[in-house]
Amino acid sequence: MLEYSFSPTGEKFPLPQPEDYLKEFERLKKLVKNQRAMGREIVVVMGLGFVGALMAAVVADAEDKKKKSTKFVIGMQRPSTRSYWKTPLLNRGLPPVSSEDPEVAPMIHRCVKEKKTLIATYTYDALKLADVVVVDVQCDYLKESLGNVQAGRADMEALEESMEIIANHIPPETLVLIETTVAPGTTEQVAYPIIKKVFRKRGIATDPVLAHSYERVMPGRNYVSSIRDFWRVCSGVNEEATRRVVKFLKEVINTEEYPLSVLDKPIESETAKIVENSFRATILAFLDEWSLFAERNGVDLIKVIQAIKVRPTHSNIIFPGPGIGGYCLPKDGGLGLWAYQHIHGWEDDIFKITPLAIDINDTRSLHVAQLTRDALRNMGRPIASAEILLLGASYREDVGDTRYSGSELIVRRLTEMGAELRVHDPYVLHWWEFEKQDEYPASSQSLKRFFRGQEKLKDLRVAQDLKESLSGTDAVILGVRHKHYLNLDPDEVVKMVGGPIAVIDCFGILDDDKIRRYFELGCEVKGLGRGHVKRIKDEVKQSRTED
Ligand SMILES: NC(=O)c1ccc[n+]([C@@H]2O[C@H](COP(=O)([O-])OP(=O)(O)OC[C@H]3O[C@@H](n4cnc5c(N)ncnc54)[C@H](O)[C@@H]3O)[C@@H](O)[C@H]2O)c1
Repeated sequence: MLEYSFSPTGEKFPLPQPEDYLKEFERLKKLVKNQRAMGREIVVVMGLGFVGALMAAVVADAEDKKKKSTKFVIGMQRPSTRSYWKTPLLNRGLPPVSSEDPEVAPMIHRCVKEKKTLIATYTYDALKLADVVVVDVQCDYLKESLGNVQAGRADMEALEESMEIIANHIPPETLVLIETTVAPGTTEQVAYPIIKKVFRKRGIATDPVLAHSYERVMPGRNYVSSIRDFWRVCSGVNEEATRRVVKFLKEVINTEEYPLSVLDKPIESETAKIVENSFRATILAFLDEWSLFAERNGVDLIKVIQAIKVRPTHSNIIFPGPGIGGYCLPKDGGLGLWAYQHIHGWEDDIFKITPLAIDINDTRSLHVAQLTRDALRNMGRPIASAEILLLGASYREDVGDTRYSGSELIVRRLTEMGAELRVHDPYVLHWWEFEKQDEYPASSQSLKRFFRGQEKLKDLRVAQDLKESLSGTDAVILGVRHKHYLNLDPDEVVKMVGGPIAVIDCFGILDDDKIRRYFELGCEVKGLGRGHVKRIKDEVKQSRTED
């Protein structure tokens, strides 16, 4: 039976059939022969996700000092029903990921259609033609309960499978560069033995040329430059691997302005990534308790942070918003804890701050549901019969990436409390975490499993029309700092709703004038870390009694 893969816009692509593979490999061989004649190296990027799709384009766009393309890139995506559509889309010169970066679409178009240095394929046979393989598949961390990262494990399946496939296909001298964020120790203690074992079976006596260099990509307005024009850390399993990875990175990214940090061993490069992201998760988690302190003691944490930030030593203090989210910060520390016990075999438990930070970040957004309930109660409206509009589904401002967003938990918790949810997000057409909650992000991995009464959420659709979304709602949650929400005028909002509402500000979006105006219009306002709203409310009440 023919199976189909659907793109985010709903276009239907039939999955390749067994007879297609041979033809596809013949096509690749012909292309590669021509490319080699032009002196180009063949780079296969495995995994066309948020990282791989763009890394493939950056490599394909790279030129030498004489402005000549030096690489031909084959993006390799396994043909699953969930992801196959990325392959035909990329071959049309279209980006398989949505982005706010104006560089993304023209760059992919240029490489596919003009320079002809980028194609995509579904066949692993592409690996047979590779001089370099860049591995950008996922390595997840599976959590067993909400707010307890220690009860979980690294999911090495995709990565281990990829290593075996690579080892079975590549020529022995191919450089294999793992960019995936992995549990520290993976490159030398998991990937290297897998490849070596297969090499032995294939009668290859040489050592695999294996290296690690993690991505610091930020999908958003600077998506491309966060790969190309940014500092990189790398390391190889031996001198040859280090020499090759340094050479490759120097040829494809801007290492002149952003010099490479070459570390002695891959475990150091792998640890750097985990420490880097755990540090960030920790400074975000640290403000959660101060956010509650602020709410309960009349303090506006937003102003406190602004006051602290001017001090150069404290300039990276950041307000955490409603939970942290994104693909990396919720999981990367977990990969570190797991590696300590399961790759390196230590039995004691040395980690305190890293897991605590993740647990705090993973549950912070539940408090938004409490604030919403309290605001509605102050207006005499029970949460169980309320209509609530959430503005923003993604995990950060002005991007369409919804992975592990605080907004998802807000929807789930409020639904459990009986409320009816509507969602608006100009960047998100489909919120797959709900629409496909039985299979996304993977079967039985939906956060749905931690909440009751979630079935109906598969019918949740993300609205694009703000006016329509606001009409008749009881509460509005400002969940994400998308530019569309920063300047909403209270009078306009109340007009579009048709009466007073509860407004919950999760991200310091409202200034004091707007908060005051909402109160004057008969609304209720609450906010994460915004204890001073009570003072403004009392002032408005006071001025009413004086009138
Ligand atoms: N997304 C980010 O912002 C970001 C930033 C820095 C680092 N990273 C890291 O980069 C890695 C990749 O992340 P991502 O966001 O691109 O993940 P992703 O899930 O978007 O992409 C992974 C892709 O690999 C494909 N894949 C899996 N197994 C495969 C196989 N055997 N052959 C071919 N393709 C296969 C999947 O189908 C998917 O398309 C992760 O380790 C992540 O932690 C991500």
